Amino acid sequence: VPVPPMSIRFDQAAGTLSPEGPTLTRRMSDLEGLFRDHEAWEKAVADGDPVVYSVISSPVPEIDRELPQSITTIQPGTTGGELWMTKGHQHPNHQGEIYLGISGRGGLLMFDGTETRWVEMTPGTIGYMPPGWAHRSVNIGDEPYSFLAVYPGGAGHDYGWVLEHGMGLRALSGADGVELVDYVEG
Ligand code: 6PG
Ligand code: NI
Repeated sequence: VPVPPMSIRFDQAAGTLSPEGPTLTRRMSDLEGLFRDHEAWEKAVADGDPVVYSVISSPVPEIDRELPQSITTIQPGTTGGELWMTKGHQHPNHQGEIYLGISGRGGLLMFDGTETRWVEMTPGTIGYMPPGWAHRSVNIGDEPYSFLAVYPGGAGHDYGWVLEHGMGLRALSGADGVELVDYVEG
């Protein structure tokens, strides 16, 4: 069902969009097979299964030719030394996407199956994901990291691709901030 022209308000303090569409909450248990340290992940699941990130969406539907938007908020934290992050995905029919940093500090990790790119995201940074680059977001600060995503409605989300191919690099918490290390299977 197409939607009419509209404006959408983001209330940063309340963390809401209005009008709003679906909201998604990803807990630690939803991130199976993604952290390098499987035991640390299991322990975190048993230990309260914390919310790692949430995604609030505008009412624009995910259908071809529409342009949906969402705001992701990743909580600060580490599991086995690895910074909290999104699952990461590839858009199956290889469409581009943009992010806009809203608050906090993050990293945008992109992987095309061969090369890896890391873009630091602060409020006001626009991160561009060209077609064919899988993407994952990481909170590299000590407060929640929020960003706006705008993507083609027909893009689809392929999570299996990242489980199979990884993301090229992992973002660990190092002495001087983020430390990027080669991908090692979980
Ligand atoms: C998208 C965006 C973005 C992303 C969230 C959660 O294509 O919709 O890249 O909204 O979905 O940041 O990340 P995961 O989809 O990888 O869990
Ligand atoms: Ni995407």
